[in-house]
Parts: sequence; C-alpha cells; structure tokens
Amino acid sequence: MAIMEYLNPGRAPYTAQDRALIGTEHARQARAHFRAHPAYRPTPVHTLPGLAGTRAVHVKDESGRMGLGSFKALGGAYAVHLLARRDGPGVTFVCASAGNHGISVAAGAREAGAACVVYLSHDVPEAFARRLRGLGAEVRRDGGDYEAAMAAAEQAAREPGRRLVADSSWEGYTDVPLEVMRGYTLLFDEVAESALEAPTHVFVQAGVGGLAAAAAGYVRDRWGEQPKIVVVEPEGAPCLIESARAGRPVRVQGSRTTLGRLDCREPSLIAHRLLSHLADLYTTITDDQAADAARLLAGHGVALSDCGAAGAAGLLALTDGTRAAIGLDDTSRVLLLGTEGPVEPK
Ligand SMILES: Cc1ncc(COP(=O)(O)O)c(C=O)c1O
Repeated sequence: MAIMEYLNPGRAPYTAQDRALIGTEHARQARAHFRAHPAYRPTPVHTLPGLAGTRAVHVKDESGRMGLGSFKALGGAYAVHLLARRDGPGVTFVCASAGNHGISVAAGAREAGAACVVYLSHDVPEAFARRLRGLGAEVRRDGGDYEAAMAAAEQAAREPGRRLVADSSWEGYTDVPLEVMRGYTLLFDEVAESALEAPTHVFVQAGVGGLAAAAAGYVRDRWGEQPKIVVVEPEGAPCLIESARAGRPVRVQGSRTTLGRLDCREPSLIAHRLLSHLADLYTTITDDQAADAARLLAGHGVALSDCGAAGAAGLLALTDGTRAAIGLDDTSRVLLLGTEGPVEPK
C-alpha cells in the first residue's frame, strides 16, 4: 500500500456549533476536575531546535501522565468521573480498549469505587492486561481486533447497571465519547498556558481520531485558523483519511500494523465530522517509519513507543510538495504529541 498524503478540500472555519462540542471552555472544566487530583501535574514539553527542517519541534511528553503511561489518562477517567457523579455508586463501567483507554477507565472506576470490565482483543499485549488487573479491572479477551472487542463490550454493557465508556462514537452514541475527548483537551491547555509560543503546525497520530479532533477543537478555539493540523495514521489502518475522502465514516479493510493503539478500522463519528473540516492534512506512515522516529527521539532523550512517536514519523516522512503546501519551513514551530512511553522494553 502506498503512503498517502491528502490535503483536505473540505477545510472550513471553526463554528459556534464546533465550540459547543469541543473547545477551550471544556479544557477549563477538565482542568477544574483534575486540579484536585493528587496525581495530576502538567506533563513536560521537550524542545528540539531545528529538527526536520523546522525552527523547533516541541514534543508534549505524555508518558508520565498521572502514572498511567499515556494521554488517555485524561479521557476515560474523566468521563467515568462525570458519569459516576450523575449515576451514583453501584454502576459497573464497561469498555473496549487497545490498552490505554481501558487503563484510564479502570483508574476512574477505582477512584469512584465502581467495578470495571475491560474487553481486549486477542492481539493487545499482555502487559496491558496485567496493568488493568492491577487497577482492579476484570479483563475479558474477545475478538481478533479492536472493533470485535468493541462489539463485545457494547453487548455486555446492555445488562442493567452497566455503562459503556467508549472512546469512539457512532450514530446514537456520542455523549460519553465527547466527554472523553473533552478530557484530552487539557493537555493542549497545558501547552497554551506554558511559555511556548503558539504552534504553527500540530501533528497528531490517530486511532479512532478522538485525540486529533480534541486537538483540532482546542487549537482552532485558542489559536484560530492559522495553525495547520495534520492527522497521522498507520498505512495499515487509514480510517480517517479514507472517511475524509469518502465524505462519510467508512470502515477500511486495512492490513497488519505493529502500531497497535492506532490500529482502528472505523473512525469515531464525532471525530470524523470535526476533522473533516478542521484538519488541513491527513497522512499515513509505515510501521518502520514510526520505529525510526521513536529511535530518533530516543537519541534526543525523549523515550516513546512507536505509537507515541507516530506524529513525529508523519512530520519526518512528509514529501517536499506537501511541506510547501502547508507552509512547513525553517520558521515553523511544530507541536507533536508523544502520546505514550515505551510499552514493553525492546
Ligand atoms: C498511545 C496512543 N496514541 C494515540 C492514540 C490515538 O487516539 P485516538 O484513538 O483517540 O485517535 C491512542 C489510542 O488509543 C493511543 O493509545
């Protein structure tokens, strides 16, 4: 399969309707919640001057996020907190996960004193299952891919007293995943509140697109239409790029990828809708490019998994024509999300 770069012809301004879904106000609310959390502190940003022909690349390093290993700690746990406050004790939270979302939901459930069941497909590393059990969650293995695990979780959540906390969304199921995405906006707020100048470009790796859409909503609300937002997907699971091309969410066949947490064949409906007018560019990377990017960043003292370095891979792989099209040059200030630390020692 060829590497793809797709300049979004549907790019249009951020609207009041978008703002009602996701923007800086949601980050403020998420901050108000997390500020009281004993494990909360802003994650660091590593600045790498001159990388990839830019003025500077800034890597927001989410590996230490609340001791849970990824930015996902801000999403699922936040949605669980809001649901537990509304529904009271006695609810069992159910989710499917490629790993990190489950950890966040399990942590949130433990804090709320609620039970939690996490569905993992058979290819999710056992390291995640161990961490989930350590957080008090019951782990169930079901299905060969993320979508199959999601179907199992959805079915299980139909039982009375259970609530599905998905990081993806579809027709008729958007409220909870929207809160998950609103939780993620806090990490962009931390960047905005730091001493850094506004980024000119933001590269975000995507699975179902929740993080990328949170980035898009926050960035447009805070910094306007100028910063270029680039969505980076594995070539084996290009569901957002194909959905953007099709003008509706589509399921892709895809192929094997080692980028497990980005291995999603169907986009989140809300994420697709937001990105289809707020993102400037969609691009894909190979597994090898992600591994090379992780090695390069490790050489600069930034330790990430290949998934965590996928945004950097997108930046490094961009063709000259596309770099020019998005105005990427030696004056650019690029924000990357180091979404996850090393998962299993290599
Ligand atoms: C480490 C890491 N990076 C990026 C992503 C992509 O997030 P999303 O599925 O919201 O697009 C995930 C999702 O699980 C992840 O775990």
